[in-house]
Amino acid sequence: MLRTHTCGELTMAHVGLEVTLSGWLQRSRDMGGLTFLDLRDRYGITQLVFNLEANSALCMEARKLGREFVISAKGTVAERSNKNPKMATGDIEILVGSFTVLNVSKTPPFTIEDNTDGGEELRMKYRYLDLRRNVNRKNLELRHKMGIETRNYLNNQQFLEIETPYMIKSTPEGARDFVVPSRMNPGQFYALPQSPQTFKQLLMVAGFDRYFQIVRCFRDEDLRADRQPEFTQIDCEMAFVTQEDILNTFEGLAKHLFKSVLNIDMGDFPRMSYDQAMKLYGSDKPDIRFGMTFTALNELVKGKNFKVFDDAEIIVGINAAGCSEYSRKQIDELTEFVKRPQVGASGLVYIRYGLDGIVKSSVDKFYSPDDLMTILQKCNANPGDLILVMAGKEEKTLSALGTLRLEMGKRLNLFQPGDFKPLWVVDFPLLEWDDETRRFYAKHHPFTSPKPEDIPLLDTDAKAVRANAYDLVINGTEIGGGSIRIHNKDLQKKMFTVLGFSDEEAADQFGFLMNAFEYGAPPHGGIAFGFDRWSTIFGGGDSIRDYIAFPKNNSGRDVMIDSPSAIKEEQLKELQIRLLK
Ligand code: AMO
Repeated sequence: MLRTHTCGELTMAHVGLEVTLSGWLQRSRDMGGLTFLDLRDRYGITQLVFNLEANSALCMEARKLGREFVISAKGTVAERSNKNPKMATGDIEILVGSFTVLNVSKTPPFTIEDNTDGGEELRMKYRYLDLRRNVNRKNLELRHKMGIETRNYLNNQQFLEIETPYMIKSTPEGARDFVVPSRMNPGQFYALPQSPQTFKQLLMVAGFDRYFQIVRCFRDEDLRADRQPEFTQIDCEMAFVTQEDILNTFEGLAKHLFKSVLNIDMGDFPRMSYDQAMKLYGSDKPDIRFGMTFTALNELVKGKNFKVFDDAEIIVGINAAGCSEYSRKQIDELTEFVKRPQVGASGLVYIRYGLDGIVKSSVDKFYSPDDLMTILQKCNANPGDLILVMAGKEEKTLSALGTLRLEMGKRLNLFQPGDFKPLWVVDFPLLEWDDETRRFYAKHHPFTSPKPEDIPLLDTDAKAVRANAYDLVINGTEIGGGSIRIHNKDLQKKMFTVLGFSDEEAADQFGFLMNAFEYGAPPHGGIAFGFDRWSTIFGGGDSIRDYIAFPKNNSGRDVMIDSPSAIKEEQLKELQIRLLK
């Protein structure tokens, strides 16, 4: 054995014991007659001591060791004279009698410590060194624990973990597919799954009744802090259930993870309809850690000759409590913030309700003090508050004010670490109209069932049809989403028609599913959680990259292995692919 103990476990109880530790040399310090080495492994750091007087040859050898050398050291556990209460092993040290260098190391390109000097790109390039840092190790440990506890919970609920193929057929699920050329079938391509959606439905037809899989999914979409081209889902499906059964089963999973991973007892999760979420928060994934909900002002502000409001589809405000003393500069900053292309608002109106009771606004020309006071009352404002108002097209304005609301939440420090506010958003619309292509798209995916009472609307007012679809949101992040599926062949066919598929296109792309529906498909539904996102939320991180061992950067590149990369001419030839110049 190259070690008898780990670098994280020795305490006063081990004093006097002869031990062997192995690990990486984090740092060394020479203090006159003594040399100290910090030896690190996955479990912690232990201080090794060499005494120049007692064994000068060994001490001189130790002084030659460089950072990140791999060492195995044998010695005796001793009580430290200078204890370090910040370290788990801070009461002891090892008086080393001998050591072996298991491997040497080049000087690492950045310091492997909690506060590293390495920039992100450099750390991504040397990800295997970055992963030696505590923060990354802890993130992956958390992820592991969540995976194990997910399996425990679902296994106890009779779910079977079943693998589905990675080389499938291109299916439209919102994003672009990554495709893989087939050598044996020239000119034909597999697609990597955006999710195992159709396969899990086929497993229900096959009678498995409760399926799950912690599974990699692939989507060729623009990347953000919460998106990776390959990411992991906790993918689940159940047969013979209603939406209520699914929400309860997976609220159970979420509560189990909160308890077993974070030791937090969660009460029942609130639910909110999509419509309510949009009206009150301007988002289908509201962050309900703080209020500041929207107040619709159309009736109060129209007809006063203020063109911006008169022309607007919607006028809506938030109450930034306690912000009446914001300076001109701060308000200008907020205006600039909402005018950025990412937010896309044309401007921002404010009404200050001064601590002295004096009301002042950017629209004093158009509204009398009484008018303004009525608005303030409608927004439940008190002296000291600041009302921020936006106007314009409904969808865009709600969403822009939603972004401003989150920004205010940040500025006012309304997000507390360790505060978790889950929320089910339900009753999503089934369809989404796209002005550019002039057709409907499935809001969730084409297999989502309309609410039975809304089915007749498919022919008359398709936009108004609500789906049996739901999302789990935690702290404003969409952690998961799912739906009750269509299990009737005719309804599925109708859905494809509404989505603009010809019969041939539907048969070509989804014939296998429609066929399966002819052989006794049970009512079924499911959900998939973003495992990387969920780990990130639990860990309190900002980017899912930090919870993935080997992530891609913002351009979808793995800078460590340098991928994607060109392939050899022979490979292209074999695949019968010619590149366009
Ligand atoms: P959906 O597309 O909503 O549903 O995906 C489910 C969850 O996966 C996570 N997610 C992502 N995480 C990281 N990077 C990405 N690029 C990414 N895209 C999605 C989100 C999301 O909520 N088949 C359906 C599920 C179902 O109906 O059962 C599906 O894939 O957290």
